[in-house]
Amino acid sequence: MATVARRTRNVTYMQADGAARSVAVRAGMSLMEAALRYDVPGIEAKCRGNCACVTCHVHIDAAWQSIVGAPGAMEASMLDFAENVEPNSRLSCQIKVSDDLDGLVVRMPESQH
Ligand code: FES
Repeated sequence: MATVARRTRNVTYMQADGAARSVAVRAGMSLMEAALRYDVPGIEAKCRGNCACVTCHVHIDAAWQSIVGAPGAMEASMLDFAENVEPNSRLSCQIKVSDDLDGLVVRMPESQH
């Protein structure tokens, strides 16, 4: 019987004060789910991933922006309600971790810590 590798992807969450936390994330989890699982400060996720609260707002590291991509229309309209919105802003509940995102770095907005 073949064994299936359960590979994880590494994601680093940077706090506004520069503190970093790297966690191993299973493919298919959202960045928000991983942050909650590992008690990463700054991700409150009040709506639990329904794209309705913006308390999971992150800034995507510049090196990763084109790989992660832009927000969809609904996410973009929700970001209008967030503080510290930048061109690299995303809602972490809307980003599923995949092989392509192994090594991803995201930053918490100043308002979320
Ligand atoms: Fe509420 Fe992401 S968890 S918008």
